[in-house]
Amino acid sequence: MARRLPVVGGNWKMHTTRTEARALLQALRADLDGLAGAQIVVCPPAPWLSDAADALAGSTLEVGAQDVHWEPNGAFTGAISAPMLAGVASWVIVGHSERRHLFGETAEETNAKLRAILAAGLRPILAVGERQEESDRTADILRRQLDEGFLGFDRLPADVVIAYEPVWAIGTGLAATPDDAQTRCALIRSMLAQRFGAAAADNCRIQYGGSVNPQNIGGYAKQPDIDGALVGGASLDAAAFTAICRAVAAA
Ligand code: PGA
Repeated sequence: MARRLPVVGGNWKMHTTRTEARALLQALRADLDGLAGAQIVVCPPAPWLSDAADALAGSTLEVGAQDVHWEPNGAFTGAISAPMLAGVASWVIVGHSERRHLFGETAEETNAKLRAILAAGLRPILAVGERQEESDRTADILRRQLDEGFLGFDRLPADVVIAYEPVWAIGTGLAATPDDAQTRCALIRSMLAQRFGAAAADNCRIQYGGSVNPQNIGGYAKQPDIDGALVGGASLDAAAFTAICRAVAAA
């Protein structure tokens, strides 16, 4: 089996002024351009996407959006479509727990967004994960989120990255242990294998996300079924994000 190239995503969420964003982009480019062994995807807030595209043009760093609407255009005030993103981003996070739980994104919407992202030639990072109160049924929750996310798909698109993010670990400092994260990522891979076949599952990159930082990344990076990380808070600090990316690339 070819070694999967790990992916590190930096999800800035609703943070940074434009000045801060430009400075962070410059620092990341200076520190990480050309890094071998990991693919790096920087996901700033939507207003700074074209700044990011400009700042990272010609580098090995790629730009991702944090969300998207499922329709290509129309009367949807405030929404941004996948064809619009296609000029400035190459990735889109979809199904993040903050979209699902704070904004009420339904499973149907996640599925429609996933289709829209792929139809526009973009690459999705599909986030799945259980809430604290669902911890005793994690396998059921993950299976349901995968089934619903991929509803109607007869094959697993090669460009899909899955992010396993237990909701209780996001932004809390309470990261999953590397062993637990490995177990869950392996479980997701086995579910993908059942649904789409072993080869597709073997090729699929599965990230861990939830309170990843430079101190704990090494524990995840060496796990056989964890192919990188989706990083929130620590992605706002150039030194921290660089350390995380380097640790993943070196593993
Ligand atoms: P965190 O966020 O690293 O701040 O926990 C992770 C995420 O939301 O992807």
